[in-house]
Amino acid sequence: MSQPTALVTGAAGFIGSHLTERLFRENYTVLGLDSFSDYYAREIKERNLRAALEHSRFTFVEADLRSADLNGLLTRHNVSVIFHQAGQAGVRPSWGRDFQPYVERNILATQALLEAVVNLPDRSQIQKFVFASSSSVYGDAETLPTGEDALPRPISPYGVTKLAAEHLCMLYAKQYGLPVIALRYFSVYGPRQRPDMAMNIFISALLRQNPIRVFGDGEQTREMTYVDDIVNANLLALDVPDGAPRVYNIGGGSRATLNAILETLGGIAGTPPRLDYVERAAGDHRHGAADISRARRDLRYEPTVGLEEGLRRQYEWQRDMVYSKE
Ligand SMILES: NC(=O)c1ccc[n+]([C@@H]2O[C@H](COP(=O)([O-])OP(=O)(O)OC[C@H]3O[C@@H](n4cnc5c(N)ncnc54)[C@H](O)[C@@H]3O)[C@@H](O)[C@H]2O)c1
Repeated sequence: MSQPTALVTGAAGFIGSHLTERLFRENYTVLGLDSFSDYYAREIKERNLRAALEHSRFTFVEADLRSADLNGLLTRHNVSVIFHQAGQAGVRPSWGRDFQPYVERNILATQALLEAVVNLPDRSQIQKFVFASSSSVYGDAETLPTGEDALPRPISPYGVTKLAAEHLCMLYAKQYGLPVIALRYFSVYGPRQRPDMAMNIFISALLRQNPIRVFGDGEQTREMTYVDDIVNANLLALDVPDGAPRVYNIGGGSRATLNAILETLGGIAGTPPRLDYVERAAGDHRHGAADISRARRDLRYEPTVGLEEGLRRQYEWQRDMVYSKE
């Protein structure tokens, strides 16, 4: 029997590259697509892809979702499941002139992919379409932990574009019966975390014994989710029963203040961090906490990596990279 083929968009990114490697272990053939967008260095993404490129069941296409012949790719490779991870991430840079790539890479790219699926000769070829949504759609949520039925009210332009993309997915599901599931990820961390993300910046500063800039008083909370748990959730989403809800929070199971996270990191590094508190950044939400009972019930999702262990793994990954360069 031939292996099922999965399309992973954003396969060279932080989450997409982990997901790709896990899919090989689950016996999938993977079609990876990525445009190497300019948000961060291409060489980092090439390194993310290195292991996948050695795999015999991997085909990589460098292309932008907005211009690629997606319909042709889906047909030729007989793709049966789609994990749509490609996007323009990052909350703070989404204001001002830099908003355009958010519209292009989150909204227009998602619409192009949905259209490609709708226009397949046989739409039922696609058994699941999993969309990487974000907890940023909630903004400053009124209830904590926040459930999926809370009114999404993003407080950053990034969150607005992720919510628009999620709505497009739901609209295509309703209009054309596409089997879409949206996973709202809560702050993902672990090896290969993007260089613009907080944990990566904190750990880099610790390794270089530089001061760490903290936006706000450090008492803001985040639900931190280890990347392997995000990958698990994507696979579990393939088995969501018919008629179940289409949107799921995916969190790490607990939340912590930034100050507590920094203390844990200092313990792992064996040096107390030097902290430099600056004004809160526009678009940053105050608290984040996921109610994951729906994912537990329908996906049988359970976070498996606790915060200290996850931070240690990311710390060791970054430390090894710094030393390998010296
Ligand atoms: N990392 C997090 O904490 C987090 C939290 C919530 C949601 N998400 C979502 O998860 C997804 C993956 O995030 P990540 O942290 O791995 O980001 P990432 O930037 O590392 O990966 C995204 C990849 O998508 C590619 N890409 C962007 N636009 C494209 C296009 N038009 N066509 C083809 N490829 C394109 C980029 O080159 C990049 O490699 C994103 O959609 C993001 O919004 C991430």
